[in-house]
Amino acid sequence: MTGLPASRGKSNSFDYVPFKVIDGFVLDHQQCTAHELCLSKAATSRIVIVVLKRRFVLARTNTGDFDEAEIRHVVHGCGQLYRDISDKPSITDFYTDVTQFVLSPTCRSCPSFPTCSACYVPASQSYFSQDEAWLQAKIASFTGRVLDVGMGQVPYLVGAADKIQSGTLSILGLDPDPEAIGLDAGIQVHIGTIEAFDAAPASFDHAIAIRSLNHFEDPAKALEVLAKVIKPGGSLVLIESLPLPLIRTKKQADTSHELAQGGFQHLRNWDSYPVLELISKLPFKVEWHRPISPDTCDQWIIVAKRLD
Ligand SMILES: C[S@@+](CC[C@H](N)C(=O)[O-])C[C@H]1O[C@@H](n2cnc3c(N)ncnc32)[C@H](O)[C@@H]1O
Repeated sequence: MTGLPASRGKSNSFDYVPFKVIDGFVLDHQQCTAHELCLSKAATSRIVIVVLKRRFVLARTNTGDFDEAEIRHVVHGCGQLYRDISDKPSITDFYTDVTQFVLSPTCRSCPSFPTCSACYVPASQSYFSQDEAWLQAKIASFTGRVLDVGMGQVPYLVGAADKIQSGTLSILGLDPDPEAIGLDAGIQVHIGTIEAFDAAPASFDHAIAIRSLNHFEDPAKALEVLAKVIKPGGSLVLIESLPLPLIRTKKQADTSHELAQGGFQHLRNWDSYPVLELISKLPFKVEWHRPISPDTCDQWIIVAKRLD
């Protein structure tokens, strides 16, 4: 193994269960009720204030899968919070299963924010849809031979359908899990891991790895393989996410824990920064880095160019 150590089978979400309505709460720069309720000095990310059905509600996470620093980084640092609106034990479709919450504008500029539970309000736009539109357009801009690492159901080829049909764009989807693969995608498939992928040097014009890097056994080895198979001048598009904080009813949370399944799951929940570090050791130039922030969804994006 050449990669940084990865712990086995990490959970990739944690639950916040609403437990108390705080009617009459005032969210205000001067007279915020968070001070009165000592929430401004809570110094923990395990409790948040959320606006649900126009009421201020306290929600708590009791997760043992993530420590305080990890929770703080995702929820208060990156401003990520979602509501599970599915009836499913696990989130399988980000478009329909969740709605995003964002840090309220009042909290963002509040001097107490570093220690406050802070308030999250429903997002007025879908940052996830914006990312998916960007990704679809990016793939549609490619020509030549493209490797899709961890293809799964390849939900991002819509804009490229004409090019694929005409042969201007050919995609090889790679995935070790035959059951995860979308066989009706009309593209070539290779069953196997990226770490063991033995293609000729410079045999792909571009490569993408969308929401798959956190599943790799050895990300460093995977990136080495990608540096080998992408042609000089070709691009590498990486998208991955942090663990997903989900507002769920107690019943939803209990059901999801009872039915939690294993399989090809996350081995880590890396932010983009360790990936940038690995890329810096390889013949790539990072052309765009979009970290996760309060005005993005739970995904980071890196676009790197294979150098000559
Ligand atoms: C969350 S899915 C993402 C699927 C698709 N790219 C998408 O964004 O919808 C992650 C995929 O990575 C695959 N995977 C797991 N380990 C892998 C590895 N070592 N090399 C390549 N793919 C891997 C999984 O089987 C799974 O299909």
